Amino acid sequence: MTDELLEVDHLTMTFAGGAGEVRAVDDVSLRVRAGECVGVVGESGSGKSMLARTLLQLLPPVDVLRCEGSIRLEGRELLGSDYRSVRTDGLSMVFQEPLSYLNPTMRIGQQIAEGLPNDVANRDRVSAVRAALAQVELPASLEIERRYPHELSGGMRQRAMIALALATRPRVLIADEPTTALDVTVQAQLLRTLYELHRRKQMGLVIITHDLGIVANMCDRVYVMYAGQIVEEAETLTLFDAPQHPYTKALLDCRPGHTDRREVNERLRGPVPDLSALDGACRFRNRCEFAATECATEPSLDRIGEAHAARCGVLPFVGLGVKWGGSRS
Ligand SMILES: Nc1ncnc2c1ncn2[C@@H]1O[C@H](COP(=O)(O)OP(=O)(O)OP(=O)(O)O)[C@@H](O)[C@H]1O
Ligand SMILES: [Mg+2]
Repeated sequence: MTDELLEVDHLTMTFAGGAGEVRAVDDVSLRVRAGECVGVVGESGSGKSMLARTLLQLLPPVDVLRCEGSIRLEGRELLGSDYRSVRTDGLSMVFQEPLSYLNPTMRIGQQIAEGLPNDVANRDRVSAVRAALAQVELPASLEIERRYPHELSGGMRQRAMIALALATRPRVLIADEPTTALDVTVQAQLLRTLYELHRRKQMGLVIITHDLGIVANMCDRVYVMYAGQIVEEAETLTLFDAPQHPYTKALLDCRPGHTDRREVNERLRGPVPDLSALDGACRFRNRCEFAATECATEPSLDRIGEAHAARCGVLPFVGLGVKWGGSRS
């Protein structure tokens, strides 16, 4: 018996890009346990949304060529040979832009009612919808269930989408930059609601974000993505304390207010690699200050501690980390 809810192994999603095949998600393995909050970080275009959408089998209209690997939820395999026809109940997602997800022509209450499990009897559906809204702190007095999405403020709309995502009683909720479009105060309130809900329900929560402050405050563990791959995974404290991959280190140094920011931006100059024209070398090589001859070969994701792994061929020589072995201070 394991408390791991979501077990993703070697997930690879390949689509036909204009210039050739693109592996937008490349050999990604991750775990989410009951009651655990996991962060996925990486700069724009690193594949965070593609990963989330591959897990939910909710891909944008790209021409998917292959979807390989394994996605197990509570031991049940979700990935079949025809990934679009496989059910993903138990997994749910909230998006950055609720208007693209909510149906503009349906009242919020109707939309939530449609998401409720079949075992909720008809006579209980109205109160189940109200309860779904109340749990995201939209009180009954607001009568949100009677409103259409465009009649709500940004923060309320985001809460309504979370209520909708939770109506199916997911075991793991994936939130893809759920608060990026909101102002700072509303962001903080919404994140607190999400966090409390996941703790109370012992649900797995995956937060995809650019904001390392959110990661530091909420996440137990973090996966760092670069060019479709996981380049580092660690417990949050370890990642902030002793990042091992040069890319992680650069991201951490880019935190607002960091004194070395200009220097780091300088270091991270250069484009992210074109995923349709990879040359078999380390994908971070052109932007890495430690690039060496070893980097002509793509490194594997190597364990460097019990809960710590990094994908860097020169790491042992660079000795970037202050501490080894993923120790917590
Ligand atoms: N609809 C699409 N059609 C074709 N390519 C796409 C599409 N959406 C994303 N991509 C490509 O897939 C790769 C991963 O993009 P993805 O949107 O997952 O990045 P991301 O990490 O979520 O970025 P952001 O932080 O900006 O949301 C990029 O190379 C991107 O150009
Ligand atoms: Mg995205």
